[in-house]
Amino acid sequence: MSIDRVFVAGAGLMGHGIAQVHAVVGKRVTLYEPDLVRAVAGRDRIAGNLDRAVAKGRLAPEARDATLARVTASDTLAAAAEADLVVEAVFEDEAVKTALWAALDTVAPAHAVFASNTSSISIDRLAAATSESRRRRFVGMHFFSPVPVMPLVELIRGAATDDATEAVIRALSAELGKQVVVSADRPGFIVNRVLMPLLAEAMRTYEEGTGTADDIDTGARVGLNHPMGPLELADFIGLDVCLGILRVLHEGLGGPQFEPPRVLVELVEAGHLGQKTGRGFHTYPR
Ligand code: CAA
Repeated sequence: MSIDRVFVAGAGLMGHGIAQVHAVVGKRVTLYEPDLVRAVAGRDRIAGNLDRAVAKGRLAPEARDATLARVTASDTLAAAAEADLVVEAVFEDEAVKTALWAALDTVAPAHAVFASNTSSISIDRLAAATSESRRRRFVGMHFFSPVPVMPLVELIRGAATDDATEAVIRALSAELGKQVVVSADRPGFIVNRVLMPLLAEAMRTYEEGTGTADDIDTGARVGLNHPMGPLELADFIGLDVCLGILRVLHEGLGGPQFEPPRVLVELVEAGHLGQKTGRGFHTYPR
């Protein structure tokens, strides 16, 4: 089965990037948000990314225009009726995601593959919101931020996901230039299970006053050759997102390494969510 039309639900940090990489390889993409202003803002971010690529001489202006012309911003689920693939990249909240999947299941054609970009929530629990016949086409397809840059897709099979669906996602990921790793449907899958304890421990190191935020980040960048320090990476991912993932890990697996640090809870409660709000462990622009 070839994927031509893609419906991306959620036009935030992940959703706009997911829409962009599909449009770049020739897919026709609908970028959905219930609020049209946000859908259009997601499309504008794609335009900005493509403009930067043109300015760097990496993309011809005609290719930018053609790519952008393949992306439609929408505030209605109706366009999912033509989709071969639906990717969901909305806020990491199980109730929000299941309500959306249940609605999409009534609109999308029977052949459409449903892929959630969830970073930690059980694929089986999300698939359960759809009809029995859909569940074999339901899969986790987890991208990494910035989506156009990070060349990984984590593929998560649920109990009902069939081989044909895995094959579709593998072929599509290759088309997008992404390498695939397969994870069982366990809390946090592979990458966040490994990453989040590092970020949480850096937060506790900060909380205890062992080092400043700058020194903790510089320690990891210079001493470990990480592209970003753990606190700036947490700010980049979004502190609300990190808190949500840590809670899923802690509830699902236990273990003190997954316990959300107090400073993280306090920052999120204060509305300091990292880069996107201009303040987290650091202030932005830096
Ligand atoms: N969108 C699109 N492209 C971007 C971008 C963005 N937000 N940010 C940077 N880029 C591109 C730049 O345009 C540049 O492209 P070219 O090579 O074509 O010029 C390239 O990335 C490198 O950018 P810069 O030189 O400006 O900056 P850098 O060298 O500091 O790299 C970075 C930036 C790629 C983000 C790097 O810091 C990095 O790899 N950071 C770690 C990112 C990471 O760990 N992501 C995973 C997070 S976990 C996750 O996403 C999953 C989850 O569930 C939480």
